Amino acid sequence: MLPFFALFFFLLCCNSLAPVVYSLNAEGSVLLTLKQTLTDPQGSMSNWNSFDENPCSWNGITCKDQTVVSISIPKRKLYGSLPSSLGSLSQLRHINFRNNKLFGNLPPRLFQAQGLQSMVLYGNSLSGSVPTEIQNLRYLQALDLSQNFFNGSLPAGIVQCKRLKTLILSQNNFTGPLPDGFGTGLSSLERLDLSYNHFNGSIPSDLGNLSSLQGTVDLSNNYFSGSIPASLGNLPEKVYIDLTYNNLNGPIPQNGALMNRGPTAFIGNPGLCGPPLKNSCASDTSSANSPSSFPFIPDNYSPQGTGNGSMGSEKNKGLSKGAVVGIVVGDIIGICLLGLLFSFCYSRVCGFNQDLDENDVSKGKKGRKECFCFRKDDSEVLSDNNVEQYDLVPLDSHVNFDLDELLKASAFVLGKSGIGIMYKVVLEDGLALAVRRLGEGGSQRFKEFQTEVEAIGKLRHPNIATLRAYYWSVDEKLLIYDYVPNGSLATAIHGKAGLDTFVPLSWSYRLKIMKGTAKGLLYLHEFSPKKYVHGDLKPSNILLGQNMEPHISDFGVGRLANIAGGSPTLQSNRVAAEKLQGRQKSLSNEVTSNVLGNGYMAPEAMKVVKPSQKWDVYSYGVILLEIITGRSSIVLVGNSEMDLVQWIQLCIEEKKPLLEVLDPYLGEDADREEEIIGVLKIAMACVHSSPEKRPTMRHVLDALDKLTISSD
Ligand SMILES: *[C@@H]1O[C@H](CO)[C@@H](O)[C@H](O)[C@H]1NC(C)=O
Ligand SMILES: *[C@@H]1O[C@H](CO)[C@@H](O)[C@H](O)[C@H]1NC(C)=O
Ligand SMILES: *[C@@H]1O[C@H](CO)[C@@H](O)[C@H](O)[C@H]1NC(C)=O
Ligand SMILES: *[C@@H]1O[C@H](CO)[C@@H](O)[C@H](O)[C@H]1NC(C)=O
Ligand SMILES: *[C@@H]1O[C@H](CO)[C@@H](O)[C@H](O)[C@H]1NC(C)=O
Repeated sequence: MLPFFALFFFLLCCNSLAPVVYSLNAEGSVLLTLKQTLTDPQGSMSNWNSFDENPCSWNGITCKDQTVVSISIPKRKLYGSLPSSLGSLSQLRHINFRNNKLFGNLPPRLFQAQGLQSMVLYGNSLSGSVPTEIQNLRYLQALDLSQNFFNGSLPAGIVQCKRLKTLILSQNNFTGPLPDGFGTGLSSLERLDLSYNHFNGSIPSDLGNLSSLQGTVDLSNNYFSGSIPASLGNLPEKVYIDLTYNNLNGPIPQNGALMNRGPTAFIGNPGLCGPPLKNSCASDTSSANSPSSFPFIPDNYSPQGTGNGSMGSEKNKGLSKGAVVGIVVGDIIGICLLGLLFSFCYSRVCGFNQDLDENDVSKGKKGRKECFCFRKDDSEVLSDNNVEQYDLVPLDSHVNFDLDELLKASAFVLGKSGIGIMYKVVLEDGLALAVRRLGEGGSQRFKEFQTEVEAIGKLRHPNIATLRAYYWSVDEKLLIYDYVPNGSLATAIHGKAGLDTFVPLSWSYRLKIMKGTAKGLLYLHEFSPKKYVHGDLKPSNILLGQNMEPHISDFGVGRLANIAGGSPTLQSNRVAAEKLQGRQKSLSNEVTSNVLGNGYMAPEAMKVVKPSQKWDVYSYGVILLEIITGRSSIVLVGNSEMDLVQWIQLCIEEKKPLLEVLDPYLGEDADREEEIIGVLKIAMACVHSSPEKRPTMRHVLDALDKLTISSD
């Protein structure tokens, strides 16, 4: 500090005495007024001095053709208010002072720099209202004013900023309604976060016209009132609309992007009614048919951290920064410490920060930790990861381990098939967990991830793999499940290369797996908090427990991986489906083509955008066929491949004897032939080419139950 102040006074001294000061150009002089207005405890502007001809070499300044185009000094404890003279930098395009200690108003003259493209000021103490002059900024693409004390209403003229892609105003004191034409004017908008303000009035119905929006559209924690405009359903399907904690009322429209949403997006609006909420609308006579009973979930079951909306509703200022940096694990299979696998900077430098989370039941008993090991280089201009980072987040009250214990545990790689790498982790007390590592991207989409992961965490059924906790940081996303000890159904049917002890499954175990899987799917389809579609059911996703009871896994993981930016799986499924379909077209002529799909996807799955439960029924049918025949979903016949469904159809056409179709290992169970044929019939119904003709999982389970009752 001392040398810097010495230099500072020296410079001041020279400013007033030496004639060399006049060599600095006009833009440099403007910037010197900025330096003089702000207190700069870290000396970020120490090389800003009047002896230079121009300011282009100064810290935080970028020029183009010797003209200042960008000022970027984030996170440097700058204290003071912004001088209006900055507006005279005619070519200024980017201003970034995020996470400093600026206060005072935004001077209207700042907006004379009409070429401004981005203004990133989040995490300061700026106040007052946004000047109406903002409407002059026709090139503005990013405006991030979050975490300040701005008040007043949003100037109506903001709808003139037609190129605006990012508008983030969360955690201020904005009031009043959104301006007219918000949805039609800001047609380029990709990110919208208005959460934690005092906005009121109704949600403009033209918001639904913002077809470029992505990620979470966050209107939560405001005073928006009236009903939810049905046009919001026109937003892109992938957009997650967060309307929690407003004063909205009436029924929730069930169309487009609003359809098939869980209740999480709507809680905190006492006046809202109808599905997916449990309270029916007064005039809603159909409520008797809506799924109100949850037979598989005990009534008193209220997982910690999900019952009170606490995770989504609390202000997220200054949360912890537990940092876990991933490394490439390659093909290591062997025992290591999990913490070493995720080269880990953590415990020694992180202090407890208990005071932050007194209201927060969901973050676990041990409190959050503040970690300073990683400070990102702040040279970027645009808003970067304005993202919340948590410690390990438990999804129910049975979680009594913390991140520290998890990372000290021994771990080995279970496999890299599917999405992300899967580890088995054994804690010191012997508890075994399965940890899935998702991608390293998606840092902007925390809320979306959080909502999804919490919804998955609410699923509790003996035949669904239990997600116990998750971990999110910018660099690392982990999902922590109960460990299921007996491998997957795929291995149980087909064995595994390099595994010499293969014990074929008895028919009784096969039946148990079929029924358990049907129960799990039925729960997902009909009794889970929302009526889900698994979408990627296959034997490698069905894990077998201590007594060979099945646990459906991977539910929702594709979507999480998508958010985390780690996996192209969904994409590849679709590509696979397209290829599969192409193959089927050619197969109807001549059986010669190669199989490229995975064999489990329903034929319509590539045409229809909205996933349907009948896709799962199809996949389930293929799995039944696989369990009966012991063949994988793609069958080699002579020199060509076909999928199992076509192969069975061929066998039926050719009237092949059952013994040739059955898994040879089932020879000893020949006395159960009646049951086997019964299952085959159910399977064929499930893989019917037209989705409407396939049974529901409830019918399937009934049929399976009848089958075994009649013969037991
Ligand atoms: C918002 O305004 C209220 C008064 O309306 C005040 O109590 C509160 O401190 C303000 N909050 C912020 C973040 O400015
Ligand atoms: C905004 O807050 C300032 C104090 O920071 C207050 O003087 C002013 O009246 C507020 N304006 C509105 C519109 O609430
Ligand atoms: C919005 O809030 C302001 C006060 O901040 C109030 O004057 C106005 O009537 C409210 N408008 C609506 C539609 O509730
Ligand atoms: C906005 O969308 C609605 C349909 O929801 C459409 O009728 C209207 O023309 C759109 N407005 C504009 C300006 O595109
Ligand atoms: C949520 O928690 C608050 C206190 O944190 C409590 O007053 C309230 O009753 C809780 N609500 C529910 C639904 O549990």
